[in-house]
Amino acid sequence: MLVLMLVTVTILRLCLLSRAQPLCRSRMVRTGKVFHDGQKIQGDQLYFSFGTTRLIKHPCKKNIALYLGRQIFLTRDNFESSLLPCSIPTSMQVGIPEVTSAHFAGSVLLLVVNRKVYVYDYEANSWNASTGIEHPVSHISGDNCCYSENSFCMDISNSVFAYLHGAQISQTNIYFSNTRGYRFQKFAHERQAELVGSLGGVFYFHSLSQVGLLLIDQRKAMFSYSDHPLNRSFGLPFDYNGTLDILIAPGQKGILIFWFEKSLLVSRNAGQLVDPVRVREGQHILYPSIFDANITIHSIAANENELAVLTRESNLYYGSLGILSSSLIKFADQDIWSEEAVLVFTDVGLLEILTPLPDSTFPAFDFQKCPMNIQEILMDPQLHIDVCKVKLLQGEFANKMYTIDMNSKLELTALMIPRPGTSPVPLVMVSNPHSLGLQAVIYEDGYTYDGNTKHRLNISLRQQHHWGRADPNFTSSIKRSTISTITLDIANKEISCVDLKPLGGTHDFLVPHGSGSFSPIFVAHSEISACYNGILDPVALQDNYSYVIEREAYDPNFRGQEASEDLKVHYQYEKLGCPLLAYYDTPWKPVVELWREGTFQEVVEAEYVLLEVNGLFTYTYSLTADTALCNSQPQNWTSIAEMAGDQGLFAWDRETYVSCHDPDNEAPLTWPKVPYQILGGPTDNKVIFDQRNGIYIFFISIVDPYYSYCHLEATFSVYVYGAFPLSIIPAELTIVLLTVATLLSVWLAYMIPKQLHTEQGLRLKDFWVHLYRRCRKFCACFQGRWRGGAETS
Ligand SMILES: *[C@@H]1O[C@H](CO)[C@@H](O)[C@H](O)[C@H]1NC(C)=O
Ligand SMILES: *[C@@H]1O[C@H](CO)[C@@H](O)[C@H](O)[C@H]1NC(C)=O
Ligand SMILES: *[C@@H]1O[C@H](CO)[C@@H](O)[C@H](O)[C@H]1NC(C)=O
Ligand SMILES: *[C@@H]1O[C@H](CO)[C@@H](O)[C@H](O)[C@H]1NC(C)=O
Ligand SMILES: *[C@@H]1O[C@H](CO)[C@@H](O)[C@H](O)[C@H]1NC(C)=O
Ligand SMILES: *[C@@H]1O[C@H](CO)[C@@H](O)[C@H](O)[C@H]1NC(C)=O
Ligand SMILES: *[C@@H]1O[C@H](CO)[C@@H](O)[C@H](O)[C@H]1NC(C)=O
Ligand SMILES: *[C@@H]1O[C@H](CO)[C@@H](O)[C@H](O)[C@H]1NC(C)=O
Repeated sequence: MLVLMLVTVTILRLCLLSRAQPLCRSRMVRTGKVFHDGQKIQGDQLYFSFGTTRLIKHPCKKNIALYLGRQIFLTRDNFESSLLPCSIPTSMQVGIPEVTSAHFAGSVLLLVVNRKVYVYDYEANSWNASTGIEHPVSHISGDNCCYSENSFCMDISNSVFAYLHGAQISQTNIYFSNTRGYRFQKFAHERQAELVGSLGGVFYFHSLSQVGLLLIDQRKAMFSYSDHPLNRSFGLPFDYNGTLDILIAPGQKGILIFWFEKSLLVSRNAGQLVDPVRVREGQHILYPSIFDANITIHSIAANENELAVLTRESNLYYGSLGILSSSLIKFADQDIWSEEAVLVFTDVGLLEILTPLPDSTFPAFDFQKCPMNIQEILMDPQLHIDVCKVKLLQGEFANKMYTIDMNSKLELTALMIPRPGTSPVPLVMVSNPHSLGLQAVIYEDGYTYDGNTKHRLNISLRQQHHWGRADPNFTSSIKRSTISTITLDIANKEISCVDLKPLGGTHDFLVPHGSGSFSPIFVAHSEISACYNGILDPVALQDNYSYVIEREAYDPNFRGQEASEDLKVHYQYEKLGCPLLAYYDTPWKPVVELWREGTFQEVVEAEYVLLEVNGLFTYTYSLTADTALCNSQPQNWTSIAEMAGDQGLFAWDRETYVSCHDPDNEAPLTWPKVPYQILGGPTDNKVIFDQRNGIYIFFISIVDPYYSYCHLEATFSVYVYGAFPLSIIPAELTIVLLTVATLLSVWLAYMIPKQLHTEQGLRLKDFWVHLYRRCRKFCACFQGRWRGGAETS
């Protein structure tokens, strides 16, 4: 599918040599007039404020687009039918129906009308005014992720900014919405009060995990970023000669296009460097900028890797947004410009000039379309364009989303077929290398097949984000997850490589989180379970078993104070399975295992914490802050709950955890005698149970931030026994039982990983502690799929 189309070479040459061939031939879309007849435009008819035209394509849905001009048109079939101009219901009481900005956010269209934001759900045909914006705004900005239903991707589409363009940056209010524009709240940029200049835009650069504010001061502009490490510095200043419109190219590669009539600039790194686009003829640079070329831009169009410009002088310019070239070439003249025209890419290499035409007899407008095939046009010998060195570049990973966890790697493969006699150099770009610590290496080997030399490219991506290894000045917080786009491209690619889709298509996300096929699942287990020791009866446990916690032993508020009444707990056998067994008098800690997709990975040695979910407090820890050799006051469940506030009790995780051994932790060690509540990691801390028999249900959370990007959490149960001579087990029997248990555990260690893949695995669930995993946002939710350790196979 990615093959360059060179079939029609000869025919085209002939046409172009005759020079009579126009760039495009117009056709008219005129349909459904009778259907529209009788329909009247209801409400206030919207118009675009700047006396110019724009076309906004829905980045994910090919046929949905919005035309902005003297009228506004929303199409859902790529302007293949006549349309009535858009209007807003009079009930919305907008006043002047003037649109200053528009944006597609997932399944809704956002419009700024008369300085307020309105949401139009085009599926449901319903309008809503946004809430939460208290001051006038003129612009709205956002991005869309089209790759999957992954929540990380959805969040990108749901995030929107609203702001007043040109306002003094230190005083203006910026609004942010993570509800696709339905509800906004004030956005606080840490350094906003110190920033000088007026506001040129606010953007969420997902590929950099940064919010960028564009500051304009005396015909210069630059970006200020919100987050570490870029919050220390600004992007490089660039010329800001007029009011620049800013376009984010689709694909989260960090490509930005800035333009107004007399200026066109491009950035490939989310505004850190912004360069003017040059005008070229063959290899020769004619003008260093649009300003010098003395042309007036009327409309621009861009997709993931192409840029086209229609000028008022009725010329068409085209360029690639590839790695090194930010230049345009001029196509042959044709009288194609009109006041209402817009330029639009309908597909890779397919450009169109669209013009709405009023109809004197019907209210619906028709559309004139003038389609162009860039590949064909580029074959004009007068353009002096070299042929593309590559016949095919294909990666099976195009437009997919992958995840990669800490210290793991991802192997991708691609195929390249060079044109005979050439040796193109493939390269891989990672849009967010610093914050991910991602390294990409290409291994290439060639072989001949069907007379073509094919090159197999093995691309190896590694996440090298280790404690102490990465330069903190270039790495964002390890606690945050980020995405990155991987682009496979060819170095110094010719402009004629239009159809080289990888350019257009091979940009992939990496979410360094366990989600999808990388989802880590973990299990706490111990060798002996209460059921197999004859202490608890599995049949009774499965039969709606419940037990009572006496009021002296638990606190529903987790503050260690006695409750006012006893608590009856229903034992959820389906979730928890048979409890582990712990002898009250022996310091205890569970063995924690990491599983991914039903396959055992390793025993987890990282730091984790436990909390009894019913508030039982009849246990403590073997170490204190002192004996755990803390340098600072360690966190505990009480301090976490205070810090988290409304966020709830179970907020101790890799994001909130701060080690008391961390040299940067400045909390003084005021109470050295408090119990040290962190298990695993460098210390040999254990749980000490009080003299009380009974079931404990523990929530476990791996808090070590350097273990995984995932929030690894689970719940399991333990039966603590032996506290009073209830079931005195004779010494001989104990020895026999212990021997059996040891043998059993050896057998289990061997069998269970195998059994899990089989039907029989289901029966083994008695052995397993429950594995109920409260998944957060990014880690794909396996809830319910992983019960008793057996159902994943
Ligand atoms: C949109 O407005 C309607 C009525 O005006 C209301 O019922 C609905 O809840 C609103 N939708 C949202 C998402 O706020
Ligand atoms: C940048 O962010 C880091 C981490 O959030 C913070 O410690 C630092 O103070 C910030 N720097 C500035 C200049 O705001
Ligand atoms: C901005 O205008 C100045 C002259 O006023 C010109 O020299 C410069 O090239 C222009 N910059 C851009 C990016 O158009
Ligand atoms: C720019 O073009 C206009 C007409 O399009 C012409 O009048 C003007 O002289 C040109 N300026 C320069 C500097 O070439
Ligand atoms: C690429 O991967 C394939 C399959 O894993 C392997 O056979 C081949 O040798 C690798 N090539 C290179 C150059 O590493
Ligand atoms: C990080 O940047 C700061 C300030 O720019 C500098 O003092 C420090 O040496 C840098 N650290 C490293 C590891 O380069
Ligand atoms: C389980 O016990 C609860 C009360 O303890 C009762 O309401 C419920 O109906 C029982 N369910 C079954 C399936 O026996
Ligand atoms: C928790 O830590 C705080 C200090 O951060 C200490 O005052 C308190 O006693 C600790 N609570 C427990 C139950 O150890």
